[in-house]
Amino acid sequence: MEVALADTGGAIGAGQAQTAAIRIDGLVKRYGPFVAIDHLSLEIPRGQFFVIVGPSGCGKTTLLRILAGLDKPSEGRIETIAPAAGRPGNSMVFQGDSIFPWMNVWDNAAYGLRMRGAPKAEIAEVVGHYLDRTGLRRFAKSYPHQLSGGMRQRVSIARAFANDPEILLMDEPFSALDAQNKLLLQEELLRIWEEHRKTVVFITHSVDEAVILGDRIMVMTAQPGRIKNFVDVTLPRPRDVLELQRSPVYAELVHTIWSSLRDEVNRAKRQAEGEG
Ligand SMILES: Nc1ncnc2c1ncn2[C@@H]1O[C@H](COP(=O)(O)OP(=O)(O)OP(=O)(O)O)[C@@H](O)[C@H]1O
Ligand SMILES: [Mg+2]
Repeated sequence: MEVALADTGGAIGAGQAQTAAIRIDGLVKRYGPFVAIDHLSLEIPRGQFFVIVGPSGCGKTTLLRILAGLDKPSEGRIETIAPAAGRPGNSMVFQGDSIFPWMNVWDNAAYGLRMRGAPKAEIAEVVGHYLDRTGLRRFAKSYPHQLSGGMRQRVSIARAFANDPEILLMDEPFSALDAQNKLLLQEELLRIWEEHRKTVVFITHSVDEAVILGDRIMVMTAQPGRIKNFVDVTLPRPRDVLELQRSPVYAELVHTIWSSLRDEVNRAKRQAEGEG
């Protein structure tokens, strides 16, 4: 579901567009006495594919919701780049089904553009383009219940890209899919993203997926969520997923991230068992 960005603290001016799309400074998020996010500061340059990994409950979704303007920080400051006139600040792709069951594929994909009153010809061109790119053109008149889970996720992605936001926020969009569909959608996402190189913030539990897609990966600690470390993915683009997985650099990166994540996942597990 697309959500227009509420002003969460300030907009980064166009003059600074080269530098940052998102700037987070000293972000704290509490729910009562519970600290979900603890003093997180970071900057995401425009056009970067930024990936967040971290154990369950470390605050990833909370961070994305704050970036989308759906939730407010308890402390700290968030700045996001001001979108060009007539374009939304962000679009969010949620985990699982987030398309409207009562709209067909075409209308779902066109939703954001229609909401902001884009001209008919533009809608036809843009929606047609992204339905082609996601292999959904033939299903334009189908309703979500007539589609597979993978196809419904494709509709979400087509809709988010068609909406043409400044920043794309994606919360584990592929986690419910089987391995084959996941691979196909990762390849599609890479191809679509490489057309325009939008700023993306992408959450995943899969270290492989993080390396396949990302420019930079942030590993978060178990609750309270802090930055553990960053890993830069220097693999060249365009990327071919199967080729990539055979490269020694890929294996090394996956190993590095897992080494960093393992302690946090164990810590989260102990917390869940009431020993942490
Ligand atoms: N509205 C809320 N009220 C109280 N606590 C909340 C609320 N939203 C989230 N939390 C808590 O904040 C912590 C972080 O939640 P969040 O959903 O951000 O985790 P996550 O990293 O996305 O986990 P997962 O990987 O399982 O999706 C959790 O312990 C959760 O219970
Ligand atoms: Mg989550």
